[in-house]
Amino acid sequence: MADFGSSQAILHAVEEPHRFFLDDIISNIEIHGYHIVDGCHSEGDVLAFLSRLGNTVQHRDSESTGVTYLATKGGIANLPGFAGFSSEALPPHTDRSALPVPPRLLAMGWCFASSAGGDLSVHDFAKILPRLRKAHPSVVDLITEQLRIRYDDGEQSFHGPMLEAVGENRFRLRFRIDGNGYYRFVDSALISLLVQEINRTQMPVRLGPGQLIIIDNHRCLHSRGHYCGERLVLRVLLDTEHLEAGFEECSDAT
Ligand SMILES: [Fe+2]
Repeated sequence: MADFGSSQAILHAVEEPHRFFLDDIISNIEIHGYHIVDGCHSEGDVLAFLSRLGNTVQHRDSESTGVTYLATKGGIANLPGFAGFSSEALPPHTDRSALPVPPRLLAMGWCFASSAGGDLSVHDFAKILPRLRKAHPSVVDLITEQLRIRYDDGEQSFHGPMLEAVGENRFRLRFRIDGNGYYRFVDSALISLLVQEINRTQMPVRLGPGQLIIIDNHRCLHSRGHYCGERLVLRVLLDTEHLEAGFEECSDAT
């Protein structure tokens, strides 16, 4: 089910393509979980823009600049944890979920979109969590229980809860089901229920060349549809001091 509550954030950002309002960006991320800007047409543009927000976090697949070129790469695309280099659909997930503390922000800049498909969706867990509490408390027990899941990408391993308390009524999420996420067989039905609820709450986002989306990676999951043709997206992971730790669940989620 599409959630159009965040469209104001997109429209506002696109209307102000060439101005950098750090307070506005942080405010939009706090309110909506993500923010979109225009005018980032090159790796230099993307890095210059993001340098105001925080510090780049290196990734296994990134260049020394911290930028990862996400495009179809045969040979590795079928390996667990490398699906970003395929043209297949990606289920909802947070990035770098095996790290002790995943990067706070995920930025993706569109160089060129595919001829068909490949759209991004953002899933705001601040809205999903209260719905789970109401309809599926057993899923909340699953995601908050210590040592019930393990995320292991071959370099990093995390054995702990999917949803961590990081302050009073504030939480940090991590989630993956890409072959590097390990769950107990008896939890299969609850994981399926969780994925179903995550998919019910999504904001489809169609981005074009020069647009950059910045997502709160501790709050929102992201997913991608299957695509055809060439597609190139620049990914940068960041930590920032401009956001309070974790997220607070939405009190008005319906
Ligand atoms: Fe991702």
